[in-house]
Amino acid sequence: MTLNGVLDRAKPAVRWGLAHALPRTLMRREARRGDLQGRLVAAATKGHDLSGLFDEIRAAGPLAPGRYTWTTTTHAAVRELLSSNDFRTRSSMPDASRLGRLVTWSASDHVHPVRPPSLLAVEPPDHTRYRKLVTRVFTARAVEQLRERTQQIANQLLDELTHRGPVDLVKSYCGLLPVTVISEILGVRPQDHGRVLSFGAAAAPSLDFGLGWRAFRSVETALAQFDAWLGDHLEYLRRHPGDNLLSQLVAARDNGVGLTGTELKATAGLVLAAGFETTVNLLGNGIALLTRHPDQLALLRERPELWSNAVEEVLRHDPPVLLTGRTAVRDTEVAGVTLPRGAIVTTVLAGANRDPQVFTDPAAFDITRANARDHVSFGAGRHYCLGASLARMEGEIGLRTIFERFPGLRLLPGSSRRPTRILRGYEHLPATLT
Ligand code: HEM
Repeated sequence: MTLNGVLDRAKPAVRWGLAHALPRTLMRREARRGDLQGRLVAAATKGHDLSGLFDEIRAAGPLAPGRYTWTTTTHAAVRELLSSNDFRTRSSMPDASRLGRLVTWSASDHVHPVRPPSLLAVEPPDHTRYRKLVTRVFTARAVEQLRERTQQIANQLLDELTHRGPVDLVKSYCGLLPVTVISEILGVRPQDHGRVLSFGAAAAPSLDFGLGWRAFRSVETALAQFDAWLGDHLEYLRRHPGDNLLSQLVAARDNGVGLTGTELKATAGLVLAAGFETTVNLLGNGIALLTRHPDQLALLRERPELWSNAVEEVLRHDPPVLLTGRTAVRDTEVAGVTLPRGAIVTTVLAGANRDPQVFTDPAAFDITRANARDHVSFGAGRHYCLGASLARMEGEIGLRTIFERFPGLRLLPGSSRRPTRILRGYEHLPATLT
């Protein structure tokens, strides 16, 4: 084997070392020393209730300093930072250090949700160009037109459950509703929905760092398979264009006015994966919260007009995305704290949603909360969730339909949370439906 061949074979191990093994070792050490960021990572991994830690971080200041990064659970600071031009996503910033060069050298060629040219990882002018091309499909008006079809899909899925005994709601409902909706938007053929779902489930930990070697390899395999499938799917749409977003983007590329091939694949991959890997959690978290708060469910039966606010309260109370982060591009100030260029800040969305300065009695689950919609579960600023209107609509239809159809829905013992750290939700929700 040539030297280049040997080096190529070493790349996955180098990637794992840099993205997972090294940060995991450092974070564990810091967690033992009491570092707040280290403790947050450790607690999130074990699926602990994090609200006490959110309060501790907030009590340490609007930006709590840690050994390697700053962390915030303060609502005002999270919003200010995510909306500031002084911060960018980390992977959009060139890193000329030796470590940075090693990261670039060892990077995989496959699509990845948080690596360029994914929307989530790029900044203007590229970000503006990509986002403009896809935005119109997801405007609140465009989403309203999908409402009826989403309702039909929810009804069909529930029809299939009517005569069954106990079911796992994550598998047979919460996961299937969003993947079917986003697949139709992107022209994915029905026979491929199952494959797309399994790629998504296997690749979900790709947002986390600190994975063990086996988990890392299985994520990389899933991303490689997803990448290959996506290439075939785009080719299929080029030959058989339909009335869907991706066919339009493929046509734009062919006419030389749209995205390049790699940009197109990255954008399609992100929209597809983000389109169901998060909404499955909104539905699962909502079912769990509402069944555990029968008084709130009873109120919804009396006043169904509260459903849309109930979805906001689910998003606030148990958000599908725990946190995100940014890096300062220049010396700057946020929430009165001075930060040097290069400072990395972890913005804990779930923590900001429990800030008592904004939400009275933040631990209470209250579907009548007047400002529930002030949560930051969809982020803020230019990376604000592209699919927020779609997710809200799917959340409302998905939750309302299942509870109206099965008023005696009961969760059975055996529910469990997903092991992913950034994406937060249920892996299993066994239930009986009556
Ligand atoms: C309840 C469901 C959802 C939640 C909680 C959620 C959450 C988020 C968050 C927090 C961000 C910003 C991340 C950051 O600033 O680093 C984001 C961005 C994004 N979301 Fe969602 N999302 C959801 C559903 C969806 C859906 C249905 C789609 C499908 C279109 C989608 C597509 C995207 C895209 C493409 C971005 C990147 C936007 C950009 O960088 O400009 N999301 N989402």
